[in-house]
Amino acid sequence: MIIRPRRLRKNETIRSMVAETAVNPDSLVYPMFVVEGEKVKEPIPSMPGQFRFSIDEILKELESCVALGLKSILLFGIPSYKDEMASSAYDDDGIVQRAVRSIKTKFPDLYVITDVCLCEYMSHGHCGIVKEDGDVDNDPTLELLAKTALSHAEAGADMVAPSDMMDGRVAAIRGKLDEGGYQNLPIMAYSAKFASAYYGPFRDAADSAPHFGNRKSYQMDVRNGREALREVELDIEEGADIVMVKPGLAFLDVLRQTAEMSCVPVAVYNVSGEYSMVKAAAQAGWIDENSIIRENLLAFKRAGADIIITYHAKEALEKGLIS
Ligand code: PBG
Ligand code: ZN
Repeated sequence: MIIRPRRLRKNETIRSMVAETAVNPDSLVYPMFVVEGEKVKEPIPSMPGQFRFSIDEILKELESCVALGLKSILLFGIPSYKDEMASSAYDDDGIVQRAVRSIKTKFPDLYVITDVCLCEYMSHGHCGIVKEDGDVDNDPTLELLAKTALSHAEAGADMVAPSDMMDGRVAAIRGKLDEGGYQNLPIMAYSAKFASAYYGPFRDAADSAPHFGNRKSYQMDVRNGREALREVELDIEEGADIVMVKPGLAFLDVLRQTAEMSCVPVAVYNVSGEYSMVKAAAQAGWIDENSIIRENLLAFKRAGADIIITYHAKEALEKGLIS
């Protein structure tokens, strides 16, 4: 007798009936960039289809996103000034704080997550305070991150997502939020965040490339999988409500292992470089873009992601690539 797995692939109906995974549109998170000014909708050259929006324009853009069924965004700010203490990150009148207030007023049901980091707000582009020797000063940085998270909460953010990779930041942020009366505001921690070249296009978009050195002293070595699981464990112990693996496609093994060991939901970040590679190949006519996007999103799901943060979110909803 010949065993025939093909019997269950004979037509679309039976393939769908036995499909093991599907991407839930509700689990997509759309990262967006907000800048100062008015009537700004500036294309990001390295990320075709993505823009830097001023607050009035992001509100317009969100109208169509919400109409398509988008439930959540991850907000990044490009501030009007930068200094050595990232003051614009925790300024009550900062770009993210004002954007969140406007967005939540107009779209109270849209779930707004804010990225908590200092690199966009530091004159040198690192994610923390930099010491004289050029190294990042972990502990004093925690206070600034916690202040930033609290100011996002006060502006009305639904969730904060620290992406800095300083040791102890989840606990510091949790403490500060609790003190401020935000005991119920969840933290999504960028837990297994690798020092990856896949962030290149994002650093152009957010103007956050470090002016000297690199992020290898705080982001994870791409050779290490076990270390990633330790970071995940520590973040859960410190109080992370959701843990994240980032980037996604080159780290699906880490995502799978994280999903197996984590007692909290797992997010994956389909980062800028992954997005831009798809766009570039599609523009060259080398790939079937829609099929590639669908396949990538399904890969995250199959590997165990509950939440998928992706620049493809809007187009995936628009083109019906989720099934
Ligand atoms: C800020 C931050 C980065 C990303 C998310 N938050 C850049 C970095 O760490 O260099 C990357 C997102 C992307 O590439 O899409 N720390
Ligand atoms: Zn950063």
